[in-house]
Amino acid sequence: MAQRRDPSGPRERPRAPGRERARAQVTGSPWSSGVTRAADGAVEVAGVDVRALAAEHGTPAYVLDEADFRARARAYRDAFAAAFEPLGTGVDVYYAGKAFLSVAVARWAHEEGLRVDTATGGELAVALRAGLPGSEIGLHGNNKSDSELARALDAGVGRIIVDSIGEVERVAEAARAHGGGPAPVMVRVTTGVHAGGHEYISTAHEDQKFGLSLVAGPDGGTSPAMTALRAVLDRPELHLLGIHSHIGSQILDPSGFEVAARKVLALRAELARDTGYLVPEVDLGGGYGIAYVPGEVPLDPARVAKDLASTVDAVCAELSTPLPRLSIEPGRAIVGPTTCTLYTVGTVKPVVLDDGRTRLYVAVDGGMSDNIRPALYGAAYHAEVVSRTSGETGVLARVVGKHCESGDIVVHEVQLPADVRTGDLLAVAATGAYGRSMASNYNHVPRPPVVAVTDGATRVLVRRETEDDLLALDQG
Ligand code: LLP
Repeated sequence: MAQRRDPSGPRERPRAPGRERARAQVTGSPWSSGVTRAADGAVEVAGVDVRALAAEHGTPAYVLDEADFRARARAYRDAFAAAFEPLGTGVDVYYAGKAFLSVAVARWAHEEGLRVDTATGGELAVALRAGLPGSEIGLHGNNKSDSELARALDAGVGRIIVDSIGEVERVAEAARAHGGGPAPVMVRVTTGVHAGGHEYISTAHEDQKFGLSLVAGPDGGTSPAMTALRAVLDRPELHLLGIHSHIGSQILDPSGFEVAARKVLALRAELARDTGYLVPEVDLGGGYGIAYVPGEVPLDPARVAKDLASTVDAVCAELSTPLPRLSIEPGRAIVGPTTCTLYTVGTVKPVVLDDGRTRLYVAVDGGMSDNIRPALYGAAYHAEVVSRTSGETGVLARVVGKHCESGDIVVHEVQLPADVRTGDLLAVAATGAYGRSMASNYNHVPRPPVVAVTDGATRVLVRRETEDDLLALDQG
């Protein structure tokens, strides 16, 4: 995190401000750009002291830096526009709402020129509540319900991404019943590219539930992807808008995007050869990786956009097909680094390990209910004490939650000052994506609020759940 100068002059020498700043620029920092450590040692987010924030909103709390969110949204939009527009085609950036969606966040994304990708009726409801035009919303899902399809058609969504051959028929029937003209659909294909952080979050290798394979079955013949594309073309109730590929999440090596793009463009050319219909759009999905711990290098949108543009350009030239309009669906890369989770330290317990070392177990007032990712994927995070600095050296620590199981780990391994104590505020960086959106009420713990910080002021985007909220569902 960057250091801020106290105008009254530092009482304590801040920790290597120049080096910290340089490190953030070179390798990526897990903190949002508005996170600074003032000379008195306490951290501010966009000008708000975390101690004041905790006093006003309580802990745990997700603290979201609005300017950082907007800047990341713009960075993706601008980078892809700059790379593709010189080639004579455009790019639509869809913010993947599954990473985190609220009415305000959907509006910010839209104000910054992004559209919104939804994966369920619930996400669609939030995007609509935010006032987005249906035409700028996409609907995904490998198992959409009839009512989700009907609502999407009522809202006039810009695209429904079809995920199975059976769904071609279902969307066509829903569109016929709706009577509003051909439904714009994309067909999601699996390119066989396996990319990303964990098997559960990689979605384009073959043995999983998403999309339609490019590979024909053992008896040869037509691939499921081609069968679905042709089925869409056969239905007058459907308009075949594009081919979609999403290869995984938290991808730090961009070469998978290029391999997938080649395969999708080849399929598009094959379909055009066979049917005379050139699919106008191609979506290359999301998955752009971020830094979770200091030193991790996130994907640079400008670099990825440039490399993808030259691949798409070269492949289309080889195939003698005009360039499609492109779209992408980043979620994590827009919202992940914008947010940190603020906790209060409770119990601190040294545990002697088998090898003789001591690990400090630092328990906070949340845990796997507000961030399931360490337990689910073994995801690494970074934490710092943010209410003060300490002169003590760092010791091996593990941040744990308050839930009833030993896998309730928030940060597996981190150095914390030896004097970390009850009442300290501790922040965990980069929890904006798939934190609140995958939060649970395990142990009847109410879910924390999402507090946005903008220019020195806070605003609650999603309020803290209460025990009354939980009991309201209990019918006695
Ligand atoms: N588009 C599609 C079709 C997707 O399935 C996903 C994510 C995205 C876009 C956005 O991917 P992103 O840019 O956020 O990586 N819960 C897991 C991540 C699951 C991602 C599922 N699909 C996690 O916490 O890591």
